Amino acid sequence: MTGKICGTGSYTPSFTMDNHDIAKLVDTSDEWIQERTGVIRRHIIQEETTVSMACEAGRRALENAKMSADEIDLILVSTISSNVVIPCTACEVQKELGAVNATCFDLSAACTGFVIAYNTALSYITAGIYKNVLVIGSESLSNLTNWKDRGTCILFGDGAGAAVVKACDQKTYIPVTHSDGASGEALKCSSRYDRNGLTKKVIPEEWMDNRYLMQMDGRAVFKFAVKSVPQAVEEVLDKNQIQKDEIVWYILHQANRRIVESVAKRLGESIEKFPMNLQEYGNTSSASIPILLDEMNRSGKLKKGQKIVLAGFGAGLTWGASILEWCL
Ligand code: ACO
Repeated sequence: MTGKICGTGSYTPSFTMDNHDIAKLVDTSDEWIQERTGVIRRHIIQEETTVSMACEAGRRALENAKMSADEIDLILVSTISSNVVIPCTACEVQKELGAVNATCFDLSAACTGFVIAYNTALSYITAGIYKNVLVIGSESLSNLTNWKDRGTCILFGDGAGAAVVKACDQKTYIPVTHSDGASGEALKCSSRYDRNGLTKKVIPEEWMDNRYLMQMDGRAVFKFAVKSVPQAVEEVLDKNQIQKDEIVWYILHQANRRIVESVAKRLGESIEKFPMNLQEYGNTSSASIPILLDEMNRSGKLKKGQKIVLAGFGAGLTWGASILEWCL
């Protein structure tokens, strides 16, 4: 027993900011951003929220799977940018979609979040606990972005993607996931819990501004990604006794075109096998893989029987890879 993806959906805000718009905020240029990252524009929330985007992506995935919300028995949302601390985003999605039979919880593993949420769904299905799982990655990273920091604000965008994972009798592929908490300083965004009325800590305003926004050592994250992702891909292929020539698509977290190109090169694989949409959306953290998966599904690029590798990497540090066989 394992799970198969039987429907996908996504939502991205209609409001966009291109690199020229970013160059009005910080000292940068379209040329620099495109050359170093591959990003051309990003979609940014206006009226939308992490919850509203998750709901729309989830609704579209259910339609694509031809399933009703009450058939879902688990909703898993991966996010680092929830609207509120409680209730969790998954419970809010349950309310909006009317998924009355679902157990709901959120998962936080940054840009590896969708891969880990997908693995979690498979684990519950394989254990016989749930049958129909709605897995969502939804992020409003613009709320966490320091729009005065040219080292980070050029990278991120907002959006949501979703997949319905259903129990089936196919082969189970073992995933690979890793974490390195000791290197977590490379990419961080501090908590909202410093305002403890009992301890009466005094936090300087200007310090708070930065602590509550994302801070990144870009070079360190780059080095980590280009080393760890090819290793995780090799490991997951090895574990499942699958050869590279059996893999049709490598769907990587969409952080930076240079990272994707470097991973392809290190694996000795054609860049044609590494679809990208980061030029349009920037880095949308845990939403990037399901948005790309949905675009490929709807444009007919994914064919029944194709083997696909999903690979995520990001804050924590966390990284991982999974193999799936396309069934639609
Ligand atoms: N425009 C112009 N110049 C810039 C900009 C900018 N936006 N940002 C930095 N620079 C300057 C720096 O100040 C530096 O100038 P200096 O040499 O005079 O000091 C120079 O460009 C080089 O800076 P680097 O930081 O070394 O630039 P780099 O080539 O590493 O590119 C970047 C920076 C794009 C952030 C790169 O390091 C990167 O992509 N890292 C990975 C980031 C990432 O993908 N993070 C997310 C992954 S995990 C997750 O998704 C949450």
